[in-house]
Amino acid sequence: MKIGVLKEIKDNEKRVAVTPGVISKIKKLGYEIFLEHNLGIQANFYNEQYVESGAEICSKEEIYKCDLLLKINKPTHDEINKLSNNQTLISFFTPALNPELLKLCKKDNINIMSMDSVPRISRAQKMDALSSMANVAGSRAVIEAAHCFGRFFGGQITAAGKIHPAKILIIGAGVAGLSAIGTASSLGAVVRAFDTRPEVKEQVESLGAQFLTVSIDEDGSSKDGYAKVMSKEFINAEMKLFKEQAEDVDVIITTALIPGKEAPKLITRDMVELMKPGSVIVDLASQQGGNCELCQQDQIVNHGGVKIIGFTDLPSRLPSQSSELYANNLFHILDELTPDKNGEIMINMNDDVIRGMTIVRNGEITYPPPKVEVSAASKSKVEKKVIQKPSIEKKSSIIPGILTLSLLFLVGAFAPASFMNHFTVFVLSCFIGYMVIWNVTASLHTPLMSVTNAVSSIIIIGAITQISTTDALSLILSGLAIFIASINIFGGFAVTKRMLGMFKK
Ligand code: NAI
Repeated sequence: MKIGVLKEIKDNEKRVAVTPGVISKIKKLGYEIFLEHNLGIQANFYNEQYVESGAEICSKEEIYKCDLLLKINKPTHDEINKLSNNQTLISFFTPALNPELLKLCKKDNINIMSMDSVPRISRAQKMDALSSMANVAGSRAVIEAAHCFGRFFGGQITAAGKIHPAKILIIGAGVAGLSAIGTASSLGAVVRAFDTRPEVKEQVESLGAQFLTVSIDEDGSSKDGYAKVMSKEFINAEMKLFKEQAEDVDVIITTALIPGKEAPKLITRDMVELMKPGSVIVDLASQQGGNCELCQQDQIVNHGGVKIIGFTDLPSRLPSQSSELYANNLFHILDELTPDKNGEIMINMNDDVIRGMTIVRNGEITYPPPKVEVSAASKSKVEKKVIQKPSIEKKSSIIPGILTLSLLFLVGAFAPASFMNHFTVFVLSCFIGYMVIWNVTASLHTPLMSVTNAVSSIIIIGAITQISTTDALSLILSGLAIFIASINIFGGFAVTKRMLGMFKK
């Protein structure tokens, strides 16, 4: 089969669907690849590189004769009109938002596979171009914000004065949001994030940001892995939170999207007016109407000194990397479509991923596909695991506890008094030693910390046994020993906590 790669015709689009790096991999699946002259020039991929990798350069007309056509952006009416005779097109399509375009595809046995309809199952992650583009967009959003913001993001203490770090609020901690958190944290900003799905809290915190919450208990996760529309009460509660934050933060990056629906309006005009002049809002939901009331697609709006960026081409602003990621996603889809590696595609409608993506099959509309449940099942598994854990621990600690106590009573009943004195000191030492070493933060569990705590606890135990003496000197010395060893232990914990705090944002 022949694969043709179409040049993107959308304004300002610099990405390309296939990069030289994946040409050889696609060829190993048995296909021949045809490209237009200067296909990837805007993404810094040159004709020679493509030819070296095994592609052939030809005219646009020749490309339209290929069996399988690859591109990034949704096809235009003209491009769909040119498709015929069992041809297959793979590109973004967003069928839920483009029903008229979809109707045009009902013809000539053609097949359309939509890159944005890959189901959210683990196996499909490598084919998920929405995620790879969201990752790039999230990171680039921070760079765009930094470019428009009149200060740098990191804090500094210089001879000329103290510079406070910028405070950034990220709304929506999906792929784009998490990527934005990572980039903003690495630039030194103080980052806060909010999402309707409470399960992202740990991911947000692991990237160094603070996870904000509202008091309403409602989970935004849905069974298909996408966010769901939240209740009016929840939206009101989160907007109250955003209003408070708007007064404090310097940058807001919004990524809150509900697939196939208009983006929820979460940042209102009065919130923008509460922000300090010079602040920046980057609205990644701009393509779907925007999360900010004042956002305008592909524009920078200046509202009283607050800049609202509504770019929809963020992945295209990092064209080389975005193209590489998209091309890899495409390769994995082709790999799935070519089980026999014989250069022939097989659209297997029993395969969840292929079924999900196939929106037109043999000239008939097959969208929407049957629902594939993902996150709910895996989440309940996680919850079950978490619930079971304490009960197992309880059972396992009760029996040894009863055994130990019985043994102690038995020893106490028969052993001499001097033995019991030493034994009590021994048990106490074990307990204190265990507590002071076990409570050391795992990341600081170095031999040095453990040994100094162990030495201090031995000193404390020794001093406790001597403190009841009548000898004044022993009393003063043991009192002093307990005081100094306690300072070492508690001071050690306090200092290490502060040290760890310095690595957290
Ligand atoms: P998205 O682009 O659909 O939405 C962005 C984020 O906005 C989501 O985290 C969503 O919860 C949040 N959001 C929606 N409404 C909101 C509101 N009113 N207020 C605040 N936040 C709101 O989602 P994205 O980034 O594509 O991914 C969502 C999840 O799906 C992620 O956890 C990701 O890891 C997972 N995923 C799994 C895939 C797979 O298993 N193949 C592929 C892609 C994503």
